[in-house]
Amino acid sequence: MKKHIALLPGDGVGPEVTTEAVKVLKKIAEKFDHEFIFNEGLVGGAAINKTGNPFPKETEELCLKSDAILFGAIGDPKYDNDPSAKVRPEQGLLKMRKKLGLYANVRPIFTYESLYNKSPLKKEVIKNVDFVVVRELTSGIYFGKPRERRDSGNTAVDTCVYTRYEIERITHTAFKIARGRRNKVTLVDKSNVLETSRFWREIVIEIAKKYPEIELDYLLVDNAAMQIIKRPRDFDVILTENMFGDILSDEASVITGSIGMLPSASIGQKTSLYEPIHGSYPKAAGKNTANPIGTILSAAMMLEYSFGMFDEAEAIREAVKKTLEDGYGTKDIVKDNPLSTSKLGAKICELI
Ligand code: IPM
Ligand code: MG
Repeated sequence: MKKHIALLPGDGVGPEVTTEAVKVLKKIAEKFDHEFIFNEGLVGGAAINKTGNPFPKETEELCLKSDAILFGAIGDPKYDNDPSAKVRPEQGLLKMRKKLGLYANVRPIFTYESLYNKSPLKKEVIKNVDFVVVRELTSGIYFGKPRERRDSGNTAVDTCVYTRYEIERITHTAFKIARGRRNKVTLVDKSNVLETSRFWREIVIEIAKKYPEIELDYLLVDNAAMQIIKRPRDFDVILTENMFGDILSDEASVITGSIGMLPSASIGQKTSLYEPIHGSYPKAAGKNTANPIGTILSAAMMLEYSFGMFDEAEAIREAVKKTLEDGYGTKDIVKDNPLSTSKLGAKICELI
C-alpha cells in the first residue's frame, strides 16, 4: 500500500522522537512492501517563529490531503511565563484539533512486565493493567463560549458546552473500542454537580441499549481519580469529556512508569492524528535523550487505525516489548547504560 503521512515534529523533543518513529515506519515499509511518503509541516512554537501562526493554513492543507498525521509535541517555555503573549504554541494544537475535527482522543494505558519496578505504584497493583481512556477532544470547556474577561478585568469566564451530537459520536467510538476489548465502558463525569455531565449520562445510557454486550458503569471524576490508582486493572474503556480526560490520562500515565512510553490517537472525520501523550519536554530538547517509544507506538496505532495494517502494528509492538525485555531503554526507564533516543530507535528497527 502507498500512504501519505503528514509529519509535524513541532517543538522541544518533538523532532527527535518523530525522527525515530519515521525510521521505524520506513523499516516496516521495507519489510512489508509498502510505500510511506512523508511530508513535513510546521506547527506550534516552531510555526510561530517562522510564520507568526501556530497552525498555518499550509499545514492544515497538508494534513487534510494526507492519509494520516504523525505529530511530535507542542510547547515552548518562552511563551509559558508570558501571560500577555498573543499567540501561544498550544493554540496551534487546539486549532488543529478543531479544524481537523479530531473529536476522539484514544489513550491506551498498559504496563510492561520488564518495567514494573519503574512505577511508583506497587507491582501487585499495576500488573497486567490494560485500559483505554477515550477523551472527547473538540468541545467542552476547552472551546465553549463565552470565554472572556468581564467587569473591567475583575471577572474571568470559561464555558462548558456539549451538544447531543458531540456526545453521541464519541460514545459510539468508545463502545466500538470496548467491543474489540473486554466489553466494559466506564463513564466518568461530575453528574452530581454539572448539567453537561447529566446530559452525558442521559445520552450514554440511551446509546448503551444498542450495545447489549457491553457492561456500562459510572464514576464521578473525583472518585475515578482515586480508583484509577487503587485498582487500575478493573478498567477497560474510560469514556469522558475533554478536561476530565486530559487530567485523568496524565494521572494514568504514572501507572506505566514513564509518560514517555505512551501513545495516542486522535480520530477525526476526515483524517486522524497520532502523537505521544508526553509534551515537548523543553529541558531535553536537542540532547538525544528523550524516550521515542511513545511516538513509535503512536506510529503503530496509525498503521492499525488509519491503514488497517494489523500485522505491521503488531511487529512494532513486539519489537518494543523485546527491546525492553532485553534491558534496553532511554534514561527515564533504564538506570545502567541507557541508550540515546536514536540508538533506541535503531534497536527497535533491528528487531523488526
Ligand atoms: C494534552 C495536553 C494539551 C491539552 C495542552 C498542551 C493544550 O495537555 O494533549 O493532553 O490540554 O489537551
Ligand atoms: Mg494533557
